[in-house]
Amino acid sequence: MTQASHDIPLLEVRNVTRRFGALLAVNDVSFTVRQGEVLGIAGPNGSGKSTLFNVITGIPFPPSAGEVLLAGQPIHQMRPHQISRAGVLRTFQKDAEFATLSAFENVYASAVYCGQMSRDAAQAAARQALADVALPQERHGQAASNLSVFERKQLMIASAIAGRPKVLLLDEPAAGLTKPEISGLSNLIHTVHGRGVTILLIEHVLPLLLKVSHHLMVLNQGAVIAAGAPQDVVRSPQVVEAYLGKRGAEL
Ligand SMILES: Nc1ncnc2c1ncn2[C@@H]1O[C@H](COP(=O)(O)OP(=O)(O)OP(=O)(O)O)[C@@H](O)[C@H]1O
Ligand SMILES: [Mg+2]
Repeated sequence: MTQASHDIPLLEVRNVTRRFGALLAVNDVSFTVRQGEVLGIAGPNGSGKSTLFNVITGIPFPPSAGEVLLAGQPIHQMRPHQISRAGVLRTFQKDAEFATLSAFENVYASAVYCGQMSRDAAQAAARQALADVALPQERHGQAASNLSVFERKQLMIASAIAGRPKVLLLDEPAAGLTKPEISGLSNLIHTVHGRGVTILLIEHVLPLLLKVSHHLMVLNQGAVIAAGAPQDVVRSPQVVEAYLGKRGAEL
Protein backbone atom coordinates (compact mmCIF):
# COMPACT_ATOMS: atom_id res chain seq x y z
CA MET A 1 0.00 0.00 0.00
CA THR A 2 1.38 3.41 -0.91
CA GLN A 3 1.80 6.17 1.64
CA ALA A 4 -1.03 8.21 0.08
CA SER A 5 -3.50 5.32 0.22
CA HIS A 6 -3.27 5.26 4.03
CA ASP A 7 -5.02 8.63 4.04
CA ILE A 8 -7.83 7.59 1.71
CA PRO A 9 -10.84 5.79 3.20
CA LEU A 10 -11.37 2.33 1.73
CA LEU A 11 -15.04 3.13 1.11
CA GLU A 12 -16.55 6.57 0.82
CA VAL A 13 -20.24 7.29 0.31
CA ARG A 14 -20.86 10.91 -0.69
CA ASN A 15 -24.32 12.46 -0.62
CA VAL A 16 -26.00 9.31 -1.86
CA THR A 17 -29.73 9.43 -2.54
CA ARG A 18 -32.14 6.80 -3.88
CA ARG A 19 -35.65 7.79 -4.88
CA PHE A 20 -38.61 5.55 -5.60
CA GLY A 21 -41.11 7.99 -7.10
CA ALA A 22 -41.74 10.51 -4.35
CA LEU A 23 -40.12 8.32 -1.63
CA LEU A 24 -36.57 9.18 -0.59
CA ALA A 25 -35.53 5.69 0.56
CA VAL A 26 -31.93 6.92 1.03
CA ASN A 27 -31.64 10.64 1.58
CA ASP A 28 -28.28 12.39 1.14
CA VAL A 29 -26.23 9.83 3.08
CA SER A 30 -22.48 10.38 3.51
CA PHE A 31 -19.94 8.36 5.48
CA THR A 32 -16.47 6.85 5.21
CA VAL A 33 -15.11 3.46 6.24
CA ARG A 34 -11.41 2.91 6.78
CA GLN A 35 -9.53 -0.28 5.91
CA GLY A 36 -10.04 -2.90 8.64
CA GLU A 37 -13.04 -1.20 10.24
CA VAL A 38 -16.40 -2.74 11.10
CA LEU A 39 -19.20 -0.21 10.59
CA GLY A 40 -22.51 -1.16 12.20
CA ILE A 41 -25.72 0.16 10.63
CA ALA A 42 -29.02 0.20 12.50
CA GLY A 43 -32.42 1.82 12.16
CA PRO A 44 -36.14 1.03 12.13
CA ASN A 45 -37.75 -1.18 9.48
CA GLY A 46 -37.99 0.70 6.21
CA SER A 47 -35.32 3.26 7.16
CA GLY A 48 -33.29 2.58 4.00
CA LYS A 49 -30.56 0.23 5.28
CA SER A 50 -30.91 -2.46 2.59
CA THR A 51 -31.45 0.19 -0.08
CA LEU A 52 -28.13 1.72 0.96
CA PHE A 53 -26.44 -1.66 0.36
CA ASN A 54 -28.28 -1.96 -2.96
CA VAL A 55 -26.89 1.33 -4.24
CA ILE A 56 -23.34 0.74 -2.95
CA THR A 57 -23.13 -2.63 -4.73
CA GLY A 58 -25.30 -1.73 -7.73
CA ILE A 59 -27.35 -4.86 -6.94
CA PRO A 60 -29.98 -4.37 -8.17
CA PHE A 61 -29.75 -0.63 -8.84
CA PRO A 62 -27.39 2.37 -8.64
CA PRO A 63 -27.97 5.56 -6.62
CA SER A 64 -30.26 8.26 -8.02
CA ALA A 65 -27.61 10.81 -7.01
CA GLY A 66 -24.30 10.94 -5.18
CA GLU A 67 -21.02 9.06 -5.40
CA VAL A 68 -19.48 5.87 -4.03
CA LEU A 69 -15.68 5.60 -4.01
CA LEU A 70 -13.53 2.52 -3.37
CA ALA A 71 -9.99 3.49 -2.34
CA GLY A 72 -10.61 6.87 -3.92
CA GLN A 73 -11.92 5.50 -7.24
CA PRO A 74 -15.56 6.07 -8.24
CA ILE A 75 -17.55 2.83 -8.49
CA HIS A 76 -21.16 4.09 -8.59
CA GLN A 77 -21.28 4.10 -12.38
CA MET A 78 -19.84 0.60 -12.72
CA ARG A 79 -21.93 -2.45 -13.56
CA PRO A 80 -22.75 -4.71 -10.58
CA HIS A 81 -20.28 -7.44 -11.63
CA GLN A 82 -17.52 -4.85 -11.95
CA ILE A 83 -18.25 -3.59 -8.44
CA SER A 84 -18.11 -7.19 -7.09
CA ARG A 85 -14.86 -7.83 -8.90
CA ALA A 86 -13.43 -4.56 -7.58
CA GLY A 87 -13.90 -6.13 -4.13
CA VAL A 88 -17.26 -4.90 -2.81
CA LEU A 89 -19.42 -7.94 -2.04
CA ARG A 90 -22.72 -8.28 -0.22
CA THR A 91 -24.97 -10.82 1.38
CA PHE A 92 -28.75 -10.58 1.24
CA GLN A 93 -31.43 -10.30 3.89
CA LYS A 94 -33.25 -13.24 2.30
CA ASP A 95 -31.61 -16.55 1.38
CA ALA A 96 -29.78 -16.10 -1.91
CA GLU A 97 -27.86 -19.34 -2.35
CA PHE A 98 -28.42 -21.69 -5.30
CA ALA A 99 -30.73 -24.13 -3.53
CA THR A 100 -30.06 -27.17 -5.72
CA LEU A 101 -26.28 -26.76 -5.86
CA SER A 102 -24.17 -28.29 -3.10
CA ALA A 103 -22.55 -26.11 -0.46
CA PHE A 104 -19.19 -26.62 -2.17
CA GLU A 105 -20.58 -25.73 -5.62
CA ASN A 106 -22.13 -22.53 -4.24
CA VAL A 107 -18.82 -21.36 -2.77
CA TYR A 108 -16.90 -22.47 -5.88
CA ALA A 109 -19.29 -20.46 -8.12
CA SER A 110 -18.65 -17.37 -6.04
CA ALA A 111 -14.87 -17.86 -6.25
CA VAL A 112 -15.08 -18.19 -10.05
CA TYR A 113 -17.52 -15.34 -10.63
CA CYS A 114 -16.49 -12.74 -8.05
CA GLY A 115 -12.91 -13.81 -7.38
CA GLN A 116 -12.27 -14.43 -11.10
CA MET A 117 -10.09 -17.45 -10.35
CA SER A 118 -8.99 -20.38 -12.44
CA ARG A 119 -10.72 -23.71 -11.79
CA ASP A 120 -7.95 -25.01 -9.52
CA ALA A 121 -7.56 -21.75 -7.60
CA ALA A 122 -11.35 -21.52 -7.15
CA GLN A 123 -11.51 -25.08 -5.79
CA ALA A 124 -8.75 -24.31 -3.30
CA ALA A 125 -10.40 -21.00 -2.33
CA ALA A 126 -13.76 -22.76 -1.84
CA ARG A 127 -12.22 -25.45 0.38
CA GLN A 128 -10.39 -22.79 2.41
CA ALA A 129 -13.53 -20.64 2.81
CA LEU A 130 -15.62 -23.62 3.97
CA ALA A 131 -12.88 -24.51 6.46
CA ASP A 132 -12.74 -20.89 7.67
CA VAL A 133 -16.45 -20.91 8.51
CA ALA A 134 -16.12 -24.41 10.03
CA LEU A 135 -18.87 -26.05 7.97
CA PRO A 136 -18.27 -29.76 8.68
CA GLN A 137 -16.67 -31.60 5.76
CA GLU A 138 -19.55 -34.08 5.47
CA ARG A 139 -21.95 -31.17 4.76
CA HIS A 140 -19.98 -29.77 1.80
CA GLY A 141 -21.70 -32.08 -0.68
CA GLN A 142 -25.22 -31.40 0.61
CA ALA A 143 -27.62 -29.34 -1.50
CA ALA A 144 -27.87 -25.86 0.03
CA SER A 145 -31.61 -26.42 0.54
CA ASN A 146 -30.80 -29.31 2.94
CA LEU A 147 -28.65 -27.18 5.23
CA SER A 148 -29.88 -25.87 8.58
CA VAL A 149 -30.49 -22.17 9.11
CA PHE A 150 -27.07 -21.73 10.77
CA GLU A 151 -25.32 -23.83 8.13
CA ARG A 152 -26.84 -21.56 5.46
CA LYS A 153 -25.31 -18.58 7.27
CA GLN A 154 -21.95 -20.38 7.22
CA LEU A 155 -22.45 -21.00 3.51
CA MET A 156 -23.42 -17.38 2.88
CA ILE A 157 -20.26 -16.14 4.57
CA ALA A 158 -18.04 -18.77 2.93
CA SER A 159 -19.44 -17.76 -0.49
CA ALA A 160 -18.70 -14.12 0.28
CA ILE A 161 -15.12 -14.64 1.44
CA ALA A 162 -14.32 -17.00 -1.46
CA GLY A 163 -15.03 -14.02 -3.74
CA ARG A 164 -12.08 -12.20 -2.13
CA PRO A 165 -13.88 -9.10 -0.86
CA LYS A 166 -12.07 -5.99 0.29
CA VAL A 167 -15.35 -4.74 1.71
CA LEU A 168 -18.14 -7.09 2.77
CA LEU A 169 -21.69 -5.84 3.34
CA LEU A 170 -23.73 -8.13 5.60
CA ASP A 171 -27.49 -7.48 5.65
CA GLU A 172 -29.07 -8.77 8.88
CA PRO A 173 -27.05 -12.00 9.06
CA ALA A 174 -28.43 -12.83 12.53
CA ALA A 175 -32.05 -13.01 11.34
CA GLY A 176 -33.60 -16.35 12.30
CA LEU A 177 -30.75 -17.45 14.59
CA THR A 178 -30.96 -18.60 18.21
CA LYS A 179 -28.85 -16.92 20.90
CA PRO A 180 -26.05 -19.54 20.83
CA GLU A 181 -26.06 -19.38 17.03
CA ILE A 182 -25.72 -15.58 17.18
CA SER A 183 -22.62 -16.10 19.28
CA GLY A 184 -21.34 -18.48 16.57
CA LEU A 185 -22.09 -15.83 13.95
CA SER A 186 -20.13 -13.29 15.96
CA ASN A 187 -17.13 -15.65 15.79
CA LEU A 188 -17.60 -15.99 12.03
CA ILE A 189 -17.62 -12.21 11.61
CA HIS A 190 -14.41 -12.04 13.68
CA THR A 191 -12.85 -14.68 11.41
CA VAL A 192 -13.73 -12.71 8.27
CA HIS A 193 -12.47 -9.49 9.83
CA GLY A 194 -9.29 -11.30 10.86
CA ARG A 195 -8.70 -12.09 7.17
CA GLY A 196 -8.34 -8.33 6.59
CA VAL A 197 -11.87 -7.74 5.29
CA THR A 198 -13.54 -4.39 6.04
CA ILE A 199 -17.16 -4.95 7.06
CA LEU A 200 -20.46 -3.06 6.95
CA LEU A 201 -23.01 -4.82 9.12
CA ILE A 202 -26.75 -4.12 9.14
CA GLU A 203 -28.32 -5.71 12.19
CA HIS A 204 -31.35 -5.43 14.47
CA VAL A 205 -29.68 -7.69 17.06
CA LEU A 206 -28.07 -4.87 19.00
CA PRO A 207 -25.82 -6.86 21.36
CA LEU A 208 -24.16 -8.39 18.27
CA LEU A 209 -23.90 -5.02 16.55
CA LEU A 210 -22.37 -3.39 19.63
CA LYS A 211 -19.96 -6.28 20.13
CA VAL A 212 -18.43 -6.27 16.66
CA SER A 213 -18.72 -2.66 15.43
CA HIS A 214 -15.98 -0.05 15.75
CA HIS A 215 -18.40 2.66 14.60
CA LEU A 216 -22.17 2.77 14.43
CA MET A 217 -24.48 4.69 12.11
CA VAL A 218 -28.25 4.93 12.57
CA LEU A 219 -30.67 5.69 9.74
CA ASN A 220 -34.22 6.95 10.04
CA GLN A 221 -36.44 7.69 7.04
CA GLY A 222 -33.45 7.35 4.73
CA ALA A 223 -31.21 9.84 6.55
CA VAL A 224 -28.34 9.44 9.02
CA ILE A 225 -29.58 10.56 12.46
CA ALA A 226 -26.46 9.60 14.45
CA ALA A 227 -22.98 8.24 13.78
CA GLY A 228 -19.89 7.66 15.90
CA ALA A 229 -18.75 5.49 18.80
CA PRO A 230 -21.39 2.75 19.30
CA GLN A 231 -21.95 3.42 23.01
CA ASP A 232 -22.46 7.15 22.34
CA VAL A 233 -24.77 6.56 19.38
CA VAL A 234 -27.14 4.26 21.30
CA ARG A 235 -27.46 6.90 23.99
CA SER A 236 -28.18 9.76 21.62
CA PRO A 237 -31.71 11.15 22.16
CA GLN A 238 -32.58 11.02 18.42
CA VAL A 239 -31.72 7.29 18.30
CA VAL A 240 -33.65 6.49 21.46
CA GLU A 241 -36.67 8.37 20.14
CA ALA A 242 -36.63 7.07 16.55
CA TYR A 243 -35.46 3.51 17.10
CA LEU A 244 -34.54 2.15 20.49
CA GLY A 245 -37.24 3.39 22.85
CA LYS A 246 -37.06 1.44 26.11
CA ARG A 247 -34.49 -0.98 24.62
CA GLY A 248 -31.92 1.82 24.82
CA ALA A 249 -31.85 1.66 28.61
CA GLU A 250 -30.83 -2.02 28.52
CA LEU A 251 -27.72 -1.49 26.37
N1 LIG B 1 -37.54 -1.50 -5.16
C1 LIG B 1 -38.28 -0.68 -4.41
N2 LIG B 1 -39.31 0.00 -4.93
C2 LIG B 1 -40.06 0.86 -4.20
N3 LIG B 1 -39.84 1.11 -2.87
C3 LIG B 1 -38.83 0.45 -2.30
C4 LIG B 1 -37.99 -0.47 -3.02
N4 LIG B 1 -37.05 -0.98 -2.17
C5 LIG B 1 -37.29 -0.40 -0.97
N5 LIG B 1 -38.35 0.46 -1.04
C6 LIG B 1 -38.87 1.27 0.04
O1 LIG B 1 -37.76 2.02 0.55
C7 LIG B 1 -37.84 2.15 1.97
C8 LIG B 1 -36.57 1.57 2.57
O2 LIG B 1 -36.57 0.14 2.45
P1 LIG B 1 -35.37 -0.76 2.91
O3 LIG B 1 -35.67 -2.14 2.46
O4 LIG B 1 -34.10 -0.15 2.46
O5 LIG B 1 -35.46 -0.64 4.50
P2 LIG B 1 -34.62 -1.39 5.64
O6 LIG B 1 -34.09 -0.31 6.53
O7 LIG B 1 -33.68 -2.34 5.02
O8 LIG B 1 -35.78 -2.15 6.44
P3 LIG B 1 -35.74 -3.58 7.22
O9 LIG B 1 -35.11 -3.31 8.55
O10 LIG B 1 -37.19 -3.94 7.34
O11 LIG B 1 -34.97 -4.56 6.36
C9 LIG B 1 -39.11 1.42 2.38
O12 LIG B 1 -40.14 2.37 2.49
C10 LIG B 1 -39.36 0.46 1.23
O13 LIG B 1 -40.73 0.16 1.10
MG1 LIG C 1 -33.47 -4.36 5.07
